[in-house]
Amino acid sequence: MGRAPGRVNLIGEHVDYLGGVVLPAAIDRFTQVSGHRADKWSVASDVEGGLPYVQAVGEELGAPPQAVRVSSDVPPGAGVSSSAALLMAVAAGIRPDLAGREAALACQRAEHKATGVHVGVMDQFAAALGRRGHALLLDCATLEYELVPFPEELLMAVVDSGERRTLAATPYNRRRQEAETGDPRRRRHVDSEIARVHAFAAALRERDFERMGRLLNDSHRSLRDDFEVSTATVDVLVERACHADGCYGARIMGAGFGGSVLALVERECSAAFAASVARPVLYCQTADGAYTALAGRAAGE
Ligand code: GLA
Repeated sequence: MGRAPGRVNLIGEHVDYLGGVVLPAAIDRFTQVSGHRADKWSVASDVEGGLPYVQAVGEELGAPPQAVRVSSDVPPGAGVSSSAALLMAVAAGIRPDLAGREAALACQRAEHKATGVHVGVMDQFAAALGRRGHALLLDCATLEYELVPFPEELLMAVVDSGERRTLAATPYNRRRQEAETGDPRRRRHVDSEIARVHAFAAALRERDFERMGRLLNDSHRSLRDDFEVSTATVDVLVERACHADGCYGARIMGAGFGGSVLALVERECSAAFAASVARPVLYCQTADGAYTALAGRAAGE
C-alpha cells in the first residue's frame, strides 16, 4: 500500500534541471496503490499508460514483480504531476523506510527510464516531502529546502486548458538542452525566473498577495516569450484568469505545451472566478507528501 499527492508549482518553472530554486506544494489530490507478488509487473487502473512508471520504480528499488492496482483523483496530463504521484505512491508502498530525498531521486531516475524525458527533481520532491499548510522552497542544486507557510485565505486554482499532453510528446528535452547549452533567450528566462522565485518567497512571507500575483504574470510572459512553452489557448486563458474576480495573478504551470494554468485566487471569490474563466477549475489545498505523512504516522501524529 502506498499513497502520494500531486503537486502544484507556485513559481520556478524550467529551472529545476539547471540546479535552480523552485516553490512547489503537494496538493490534496492523491494516487493510491496496492500490490501483490506476481510473475510479471502489471497495472490495473482507470488511466492508461502507468505500467512503464510502476515497473521502472519497482526495479529501481529492487522489488520483485507485482500486480499493482491504482486509484487516483490526480488528473492526468493536466500539469499537476500525476506521474510523480504514481511513482511516489509505489515507492512509499515498497520502501516506506527510505528518506524522502532518496525516494525523490529514485522516482526521478525511474521517470527518466520510463519515458526518456529528462525531468528535474521538483515534482518527485514535492510529492515526497511537501507539507500541509506550506509551500516548499527547494534548492535543486543541493536538495536543501525550507517550508514557507501558505496563507489560509488564498486558493491555488488549477484551470484546465483542455490541451492534454504527455511530456514525451513535447519538446521538453530540447528546451532543456537549449538552456543547458546557453541559448541567450532560454537563459534569460532561467535567470529571471530564479530571481522571481526568491522575490515570490519573500512576498509570500510578507503576505503581499498583489506582488505575488504580479510575479506570476511576469513568469508567464517569460515562459511564453523567452522559453516558448506556452500555447495560444493557454495565453488566452491566462489573460482571462488575470482579469477574473478575486484573482491576483496567473501563469502556465508545469512543463507547459498545454496542460493547466495556475491562478492565485481569494478564497471568498472561488465561485465568481470559476464562472469568469468558464473552464473546469480544480481548487487545491496544500497537503502532506508521501514521506511527510509516513514520518507523521511513525511519530504517532
Ligand atoms: C515537469 C518536470 C519538472 C519541471 C517542470 C517544469 O513538471 O517533471 O521536473 O522541469 O516540468 O518546471
